Amino acid sequence: MPTLHKADIVRQLLEGRPRLPCRQEGRAFAPSNIALCKYWGKRNDELNLPVTDSLSVSLGELGTTTVVAPLPDAPTDVVRLNGTPVPARSKFARGVTGFLDLVRPAPDFRYHVDTVNTVPTAAGLASSASGFAALALAVNDLCGWELSDRALSILARLGSGSAARSVYTGFVQWHAGAAEDGMDSFAEPLPHLWPALRIGLVKVSTAPKDISSREAMKVVRHTSALYETWPVKVAHDLAVVLGAIESGDFGLLGQTAESNALTMHATGLGAWPPILFWLPESVAAMHKVWALRETGHALYFTMDAGPNLKLLFLEDAQPAITDAFPGLEVVTPFPAT
Ligand code: PMV
Repeated sequence: MPTLHKADIVRQLLEGRPRLPCRQEGRAFAPSNIALCKYWGKRNDELNLPVTDSLSVSLGELGTTTVVAPLPDAPTDVVRLNGTPVPARSKFARGVTGFLDLVRPAPDFRYHVDTVNTVPTAAGLASSASGFAALALAVNDLCGWELSDRALSILARLGSGSAARSVYTGFVQWHAGAAEDGMDSFAEPLPHLWPALRIGLVKVSTAPKDISSREAMKVVRHTSALYETWPVKVAHDLAVVLGAIESGDFGLLGQTAESNALTMHATGLGAWPPILFWLPESVAAMHKVWALRETGHALYFTMDAGPNLKLLFLEDAQPAITDAFPGLEVVTPFPAT
């Protein structure tokens, strides 16, 4: 089978649908998400196909709103981020235009893209998941494709793996799939709600990372002996997290998510060159979590490819946790409607 490119997948997804916009603008919101069982390692770098399933919880109202419109007679796309135009050569604009290249009706067709992140930049949260999900949903709206949720999850995945989970709210499972074209690699929402669940964003640093998650996954997968055990660990943790969500066992959920994150980070230490996202302040925050747990607080953390911690706790514990972590941004993933 010849190597498949993103454009081949988009052709399949859009078969029979016109690429020309059918309205003046398309608009969408997508939430950020935090993985409780991480996506770490690709079996296909071009299509962002993961080695394992992963499971996340979306961050309620924190995420990205994107408006896309045709831009006639323009030499390039115009991309705005939080109200400010970004240079066409910037990493952000290249990410957006690269994704739009997949859906343009003609090579010289241009778009205006307005992206607003409701994730506070200071929270140090990656916005690529919500960003590419919102872009995929907005283009779907602009062109009136009415793609299924499954197709939208696949389309968003082509922008960034974790974006496959950001087309939904709440708990979301991304099925790794096995097909070469990745048509069975999409996310689905779980029906469970957990209104008392809280996520605290501990800002350690917002400086750009030394290494992207894409690069880090590649180095780890190819050089870390510890990666061999990762798929086994994920299969175990995923089953436990699903059970914990079903039974409402917060301690089990938190413990498993924390262990999953620490194991993901451990695979980086076994890589060459070694990868360690933590800063001294990250380790200090971990010790604080563990000390609070010693004194009876049900508090856990998870971390992604960066130095910031995301705390997991329940509503009742919020006063004690915000006392211990001044300035903590607290998110309610299942807001009361
Ligand atoms: O979607 P990417 O390429 O930014 O990768 C995200 C990877 C982690 O955030 C570390 C884990 C995850 O499942 O979100």
